[in-house]
Amino acid sequence: MAYTRHHHATLDPGRAILVAERAGRSRPTIRYACELGFGQGLSLAIHSSASDTEWWGVDVLPQHVEFARSLIDDPRARERVVCANFEQFDSRDDLPCFDFIALHGVWSWVSAQNRARIAAFIDRRLAPNGIVYLGYNALPGWGPVLSLRELLVATASQANSARLEDRIEAALGFAARVVASNPRILDSQPAFERQLREIRSKKKSYLAHEYFNRDWHPMHFSQVAAELAPLGLSYLGQADFSDSYDQWRLTEGQRELLATVEDSLLRETARDVILDRRFRRDYWVRSEGAPVSSSYSRLETRLWIAPALRSVDTTTPAEVTKWLASLGAPGSIVTRSIETTAEHAALGYALGQGLVELAREPTETQVNKAAVAKINRRILDRVFEDREMSVLASHLSGSGVELGWWTLALLAAMRVDESVDAVIHRVLAQAEQLGIALSRQGFALTLEETGNELRARHAALLAQRNVINGSFAI
Ligand SMILES: C[S@@+](CC[C@H](N)C(=O)[O-])C[C@H]1O[C@@H](n2cnc3c(N)ncnc32)[C@H](O)[C@@H]1O
Repeated sequence: MAYTRHHHATLDPGRAILVAERAGRSRPTIRYACELGFGQGLSLAIHSSASDTEWWGVDVLPQHVEFARSLIDDPRARERVVCANFEQFDSRDDLPCFDFIALHGVWSWVSAQNRARIAAFIDRRLAPNGIVYLGYNALPGWGPVLSLRELLVATASQANSARLEDRIEAALGFAARVVASNPRILDSQPAFERQLREIRSKKKSYLAHEYFNRDWHPMHFSQVAAELAPLGLSYLGQADFSDSYDQWRLTEGQRELLATVEDSLLRETARDVILDRRFRRDYWVRSEGAPVSSSYSRLETRLWIAPALRSVDTTTPAEVTKWLASLGAPGSIVTRSIETTAEHAALGYALGQGLVELAREPTETQVNKAAVAKINRRILDRVFEDREMSVLASHLSGSGVELGWWTLALLAAMRVDESVDAVIHRVLAQAEQLGIALSRQGFALTLEETGNELRARHAALLAQRNVINGSFAI
């Protein structure tokens, strides 16, 4: 069953470069990159089209490869999107030495044997000082779900139907009956029931890969570090900026406690327990004597202030809002020096929330403008039949920008309809067909509220038409 379509900003080499510089290392050059197990390949297609990094990728499912290729215009870049398993891919004799090898949602979803193959691939193919990105299901956060997942997989394997969707349904139904019997596990692991309720609302295609995969091995950070150490990989830093601003995520006591821990591996392990983390996104560097410092180095950054299509919400800390305002108008690109702890925290928060993006040098951006125009046209062409389309590529950042399905649908409708009424009518009709509803704070909006919200967003798009067109080459 094909996986869901996502773009992960953490797969953007630009982020890895920032984290390396923030850790006090000299700026790495990432010329060749590779994504292992790219799923539907939305990230791969965007990064390969929007930047001058030569991207390669492999996935074993033909429908995944077909989708990724369908978005990429350049025939040579399409050829580098390979349908094979890890072992077959590694046996090719035309692969470059990679500066960046990335895996999101793969490491903890494959067998120990396949992990060993991935490790052998990294060992053979990663350049000295090269960076590995790993996003994986982590412990302790997933601990309470281990038993639920065993129950689901055992039921699914017994079910009569050959269709995976039916077996998933049968497994969810049986697990619900187990919960209804008031089992003792609910005393020690209340998350068992909550998790079951949560996943019953998820799409089968997501559940198939997330829970019903043959292999599912959430891991502790220290275990991953131990598996990567023989490859010469040391921890470089978190890739997920939205998880890096401890000022606002941890209590003062927790921060003081972590500040006393010198060793970065122990610090991360303790932080995972404090946050009960269930997913980690990290960069690892192949270098001896890699940094272990807990403080960040001074950075020179080029930042692109996101077009004002999403409002800075009320949960954004006042310090971040103030810092953002000091950068410049939405849509502009500025160079800023990031020095103090407060500036690092504000940058982390803003990047994590998509309030700013990393901007490339102007000389670099023109090269990819035509390819970005093509991939964005293909994405917009798909919007009305695909509710998972929510990202556009940008040559300004070399990556994708999350705008949400509704904004993409408005942009797609604005290509054909002139009047605001016609645009909104078209978007509402397509949303109904796809079964999508706008919601605010978890509550679905009424038709009238939806219409008003779309009118406001349409006006914002019109007001920023030049910025949008320039940012996404549309
Ligand atoms: C959980 S999905 C994650 C997909 C994608 N990275 C994402 O996050 O959207 C795992 C992916 O790994 C691929 N995969 C699993 N085993 C593989 C193997 N042995 N060789 C190549 N790809 C594999 C699957 O086809 C699937 O696309």
